[in-house]
Amino acid sequence: MENLAEAKKQAAELRREINRHDHQYYVLDNPEISDGEYDRLFRELLALEEKFPELAAADSPSMRVGGAVLAGFETVDHRIPMLSLENAFSDQELFDFEKKLIRYLNREDEIDYMAEPKLDGLAVELVYEHGLLTTGSTRGDGRTGENITANLKTIQAIPLRLRGGNLPDRLEVRGEVFISTEGFRRLNEKRLQSGENLFANPRNAAAGSLRQLDSKITAARPLDFFAYGVGDPFALEVKSHAQVLEILRDRGFKINELTRKCSSIRAVIDHFNLLAEKRHGLDYEIDGMVVKVNSLDLQARLGSKARSPRWAVACKFPAVQATTRLLDVVFNVGRTGAVTPVALLEPVKVGGVMVSRATLHNEDEITRKDLKINDRVLVQRAGDVIPEVVKPIREKRTGHEKPIAMPRQCPKCETELVRKEGEAALRCVNLQCPAQRLRALIHFTGKSGLDIDGFGVKAMEQLFDRDLVRSIPDLYGLEQDELAALPGWGEKSAANACAALAKSTTPSLARLITALGIRYVGEVSAQLLEKSFPSLDRLVKAEQSDLEEIEGIGPQVGASLVEFFGNPSNREIIERLRQQGLRIKSTAEEHTDQPLSGMIFLFTGALRSFSRNEAKNRVKSLGGRVSSALSRKVTHLVAGEKAGSKLAKARDLGLAIISEEDFKMMIGNGSR
Ligand code: IVH
Repeated sequence: MENLAEAKKQAAELRREINRHDHQYYVLDNPEISDGEYDRLFRELLALEEKFPELAAADSPSMRVGGAVLAGFETVDHRIPMLSLENAFSDQELFDFEKKLIRYLNREDEIDYMAEPKLDGLAVELVYEHGLLTTGSTRGDGRTGENITANLKTIQAIPLRLRGGNLPDRLEVRGEVFISTEGFRRLNEKRLQSGENLFANPRNAAAGSLRQLDSKITAARPLDFFAYGVGDPFALEVKSHAQVLEILRDRGFKINELTRKCSSIRAVIDHFNLLAEKRHGLDYEIDGMVVKVNSLDLQARLGSKARSPRWAVACKFPAVQATTRLLDVVFNVGRTGAVTPVALLEPVKVGGVMVSRATLHNEDEITRKDLKINDRVLVQRAGDVIPEVVKPIREKRTGHEKPIAMPRQCPKCETELVRKEGEAALRCVNLQCPAQRLRALIHFTGKSGLDIDGFGVKAMEQLFDRDLVRSIPDLYGLEQDELAALPGWGEKSAANACAALAKSTTPSLARLITALGIRYVGEVSAQLLEKSFPSLDRLVKAEQSDLEEIEGIGPQVGASLVEFFGNPSNREIIERLRQQGLRIKSTAEEHTDQPLSGMIFLFTGALRSFSRNEAKNRVKSLGGRVSSALSRKVTHLVAGEKAGSKLAKARDLGLAIISEEDFKMMIGNGSR
């Protein structure tokens, strides 16, 4: 099929099909074809558009896969400001809201409202011109936002073209971009596996995903969208907000199904209570409810104050809190010896979850909150996850409260604790402390370590207590029979655990370094180290100056590594691991075939064509290293304008000195 006209027809047909299936799947939740069939259609379209580039179209579903990487976001002025909302914190405040409306409008009869879930995501505006999505932006400060059109186009629930005929010249659709709780869980799981930082909550994940300069990254995130309004509802020639939502639904948007029309504030409050009940069973996070006057005429009459409309109000869910008694405080010893106070609480339900322990962070926090044992305390689940003690209820004190004493000695090994200047934590400095060793072992087998199945916290405690595993290499000496005979184990779990152990014997260098739990050396540092040190041997022998030569490795990390590998018992651990067959999965091939592998660059003087940072990043992306100090290891000194004393010294050392032009040739853009 070589004919352009024919191809054009076919592309239009495919796009129509794909759009229809997108709508069925993402908006109506009612797919008509299998994923495989859908993929086939999609691939057919991509192939066609590749063959006939002149068929490119802004509303082609192929636009959703992401496009060029941006240098930054441009700003967009909202034609009509995106306002925020005032809050009502109680039923009374809702009644007050209505009273004010009635007074303002000077009217007797009741007012109709629309009550909608307050979605906990990010507000965006989508501008459709003659039905075509042309600009999408963040709310920003309400007047000016950022242009994130490319990212928003990747979201399947956002139509690239409005459905139906008789399209308005311009329509500004507003709504919330979010990530479902399930999508969030899966996203974080993937990130954990690939060693990336985790998102704190779905909202942060959505925000981070929308702010990507590379829309291909955004396309891979499970973003979703609910529409809840338009910039200028009068452009739609309708009378009520309910009708606005209906139109948006007809035009192809998802409208939240828990939106209700309410004919009185009583009904509004009932709906709020219903949402509060349903909240935890929903597949997305909501943090309250938004109440809007339904009549657009009344909305227009009510108008807005500086930052919020008079015709709407947000009702926030109260933070999930409860009161209980602080029974006692115990002290946990972490992997690095930090001693953390943990409150033991009379068990209490907080937002549907039973809570009996909460972290008190450190001594200063206890003092600041003035907490005592036997206090009645207010506890809350921050961000719906980690329980914390907010404050004591001082009015409930009886005189039987006891101060919380920080221990002087390690609760496990009785070594005198120390608190270093500038640090909040008390620390046990005994490297042989059993509590620290157990924590270190749990870290090694856990998710941030080598992630060895079957060796979770419980199993490690058991193995440690029975003296079967006292240090990391002991793990690899475990026998299957021995494990199978332990309480709670069996043939099958022992076999699985041994298989998992065997599988863990070829970690990447970065993974192993992270798993060893060296202080200050997290995943990011470990990855930097892996890039510069091809083998564990070289790393073990590295001197502090070698380490600090690596961009991103500072003195603290350098010193910690030198100290760790200088410690004979740590060296022994590594030696034993090697004897037990642990081998670093080589990444060497990836490094040696890169254009600048093995080269170390040092920059001096001013560069004309790019910033120092860009130049350094180019070197690194081509497999080279960048040094910040002059030494014999430097293979190329790049001399920019006004190169100073380094140049003379480099000459003395007999190093290769190259110009910016030479450097550009080396990195492959000599022609630019
Ligand atoms: S209406 C003037 N409806 O709440 C009307 N907002 O403080 C303002 N939000 O940033 C928006 N769900 O992100 C509206 N159903 C909903 C909403 C909602 C969440 C957010 C929105 C905005 C904030 C307003």
